[in-house]
Amino acid sequence: MIYEQALSILSPHVQEDLQKEEILSLLETPKREFGDVAFPCFRLAKTRRKSKATIAQEIATAIGPEAEAIGGYVNLRLPRGTFAEELLASILSAGKNYGQQPASSKKVAIDFSSPNIAKPFSMGHLRSTVIGHAIARLYEKNGATPIRINHIGDWGTQFGKLIYAYKQWGSEVKIRENPIKELFTLYVRFHEEENQDPTLADKGRYWFKQLEEGDQEATSLWTWFREESLRAFTELYDLLGVTFDTYEGESFYNDKMTQALKRLEDQQLLSESDGATIVSLGKYGYPPLLLKKSDGATLYATRDVAAACYRKEYYKADELVYVVGNEQQLYFNQLQAVLKEANIAPSLSHVRFGMVLQDGKKMSTRKGKVILLEDVLAEAIDLAAHNIEEKNPGLPNKEEVAKQVGVGAILFHDLKNDRLHDLAFSLKDILQFEGETGPYVQYAYARASSLIKKSSSIKPSPTNRPYSDEEWHVITTLSQFPIVLKDACDKHNPSLVARYTLDLARDFSRFYAHEPISQDASKLAIVESVRTVLQEGLWILGIEAPEDM
Ligand code: ARG
Repeated sequence: MIYEQALSILSPHVQEDLQKEEILSLLETPKREFGDVAFPCFRLAKTRRKSKATIAQEIATAIGPEAEAIGGYVNLRLPRGTFAEELLASILSAGKNYGQQPASSKKVAIDFSSPNIAKPFSMGHLRSTVIGHAIARLYEKNGATPIRINHIGDWGTQFGKLIYAYKQWGSEVKIRENPIKELFTLYVRFHEEENQDPTLADKGRYWFKQLEEGDQEATSLWTWFREESLRAFTELYDLLGVTFDTYEGESFYNDKMTQALKRLEDQQLLSESDGATIVSLGKYGYPPLLLKKSDGATLYATRDVAAACYRKEYYKADELVYVVGNEQQLYFNQLQAVLKEANIAPSLSHVRFGMVLQDGKKMSTRKGKVILLEDVLAEAIDLAAHNIEEKNPGLPNKEEVAKQVGVGAILFHDLKNDRLHDLAFSLKDILQFEGETGPYVQYAYARASSLIKKSSSIKPSPTNRPYSDEEWHVITTLSQFPIVLKDACDKHNPSLVARYTLDLARDFSRFYAHEPISQDASKLAIVESVRTVLQEGLWILGIEAPEDM
């Protein structure tokens, strides 16, 4: 919106050289002290055969006092009163739909979270969960329809081992009490005993074969393990406020792999290597992708090829997105190459991310075989409760707010960092009310809410009047929200939204520290717009916005 305004000021002076679209694509946001919008003149230097500094000077003079030439740029200051009035009015009338793009027919299959049953939910799965959830909401905001798929790891040779281990050493009661911990203990024990007694490997294979052939005992144990695990995962998702459209895990593709392999075979993409079936990817510079072992067993990759076919055909997905850590980069490159060769999908997006580090080392959610993720969240909630007790002991719904702040802090910390980087984890820093934290943004929202409550008799209404620098900074930041949403979606990068909410919270804090607000309808229009946008920004990130904290 701010760029459109700038366009209308610039157009008369540059329309002979450039198309509207070109002008728009050149516009930049300068440092605040230089103005609101900057137009670089290097493109005109070619057509006009003059230096960009001279051209900038000529254009600035022609526009008048609202323009200034600095080093080859024309910096513009927009008319604050009319711009603010119009923008605030549009935010107030749109409410939470501000920044919402019109619905398109685009469908995007987003594969995220995807933990493995009978194993602890790792920090990596947590990252995938919160990043994937935010990306799904970004697609929604940008008019597309996301299909949220939890590709649970619920098939593979490890389940043969687990069935054997359970029959040997398991306890039904213990598994019911603490399914993931117990199942994981059995799994670990299997590997320990296997070191002493190598024949165990055959026993594991035997039971996986039974499972694949539909043996009743094997199937019912597997079903039970799966249900118990899913129950535990669902508790976590409830706490995080994350939902899925479907839990189509690896086992879902058991009856779909033959057809997928046939498709590759028909296109002469399969070859044999020591009895195994592979796709050679030499021309891409990748090692071959193994799709069938010499004993006929299928693999993780086989199920992913079948899953991609299914998502294209059944869901009519236009885009395939996978939110999985950096360590599977080569694998997704291989998968992408196979899907392209086989004309299943021209490309896929591997939305990858770094590890979670604690004291410089990869953070593990199991300590002595006990899952810690729930503990991490519980600790964050505790710490948030403690903060509330100190700062706002009279708060009526303390427990609820502690949960919103504690969980929100962890999510925000994850999402504010560029996902490609490793993530250092320290609970104490994450929960600070100052600095770049979730609680800081939530606090700005709560401040805005309380200002509105205090002046409840006055209807916020935007006006055309002079605006102070502090007000104007809030207003220009508000105007950028739709652009940020589009950019974050295109780049699959929710950190742009997190950073944006921090900027807006900071601008807002300066504004309300600078001038009295209550009882002024025009200032309240700014406050109400900030509330709307902060709430919506946090919503994208999957974070709740308490009215008071
Ligand atoms: N379960 C896998 C893991 O924990 C992640 C699955 C990702 N999705 C996929 N379609 N391969 O590593």
